[in-house]
Amino acid sequence: MSAHNNRYGRLAAQVYHLDKPIGHSFGDVAFYLERLQHCPGPILEPAAGNGRILIPLLQAGLDIHGFDASADMLALCRTECAQRGLPAPVTQQTFEAFQYDQPFAAIIIPAGSFQLITDHAAATDVLRRCHHALQTQGRLILDLDPAHAIHTGGHSVRAWQPSPAQQLTLTCDRLQTDHINQISVDLLRYEAWENGLLQSTELESFSLRWWGVQEMLAALRAAGFTGSITVSGSYAHGRWPTDADTIITFEAVKP
Ligand SMILES: C[S@@+](CC[C@H](N)C(=O)[O-])C[C@H]1O[C@@H](n2cnc3c(N)ncnc32)[C@H](O)[C@@H]1O
Repeated sequence: MSAHNNRYGRLAAQVYHLDKPIGHSFGDVAFYLERLQHCPGPILEPAAGNGRILIPLLQAGLDIHGFDASADMLALCRTECAQRGLPAPVTQQTFEAFQYDQPFAAIIIPAGSFQLITDHAAATDVLRRCHHALQTQGRLILDLDPAHAIHTGGHSVRAWQPSPAQQLTLTCDRLQTDHINQISVDLLRYEAWENGLLQSTELESFSLRWWGVQEMLAALRAAGFTGSITVSGSYAHGRWPTDADTIITFEAVKP
């Protein structure tokens, strides 16, 4: 995979922030607030990005920490925290190597970010790393986009207008769908325009891995989550998902 895979560079971060600003919810902000309201200790959000969900949880008084691989996403998060007079409890780390001194009472991975780890062995290592980073009785809560939402692909163009003279565009094309390894690869072309003149452009490849529900349950158990695991569709806690659901959540307890 190229070095620019799933990079979330400068224009990608700017577009993410315009499209999914702080507090923008897919139903997940209220869901995570509810699931974490009696959380007995610190919480970690890997791949916290611009703080879309981390900042509302901080504002609700939760002791939440985050990390992200992208310096551009973290810069947005830090600016948004500063504007609200909040500390910015975020660091630049990766799924594959993150480390903390303290164990967490919960780890949350919303927005399908776990699917950015496309190598199956690497993904299962990340589940083990999460297990290791949790206290006993700690919970890992992660969201997956369902397989059917990922493996179709196609072509799309979207545009944002941060100011009357400025336009940002994102063109997305499916490059490859690998059904054996359950990985989609899209080519994302970000462009920044001013008064109709192209100012800058960034090309990123964007890869996602889709998971079967039973496959994820088996991976969680193999990573040590041998306690209860709750699977939910569209943030209805405890309701087994159906094909109509747009998001599937796993809540696994470390025994
Ligand atoms: C879909 S965004 C999610 C941001 C935030 N969690 C939210 O819910 O809005 C995915 C994030 O994953 C980060 N990311 C991608 N690969 C990563 C990796 N290997 N380690 C840590 N973060 C990574 C990206 O930089 C990006 O900020």
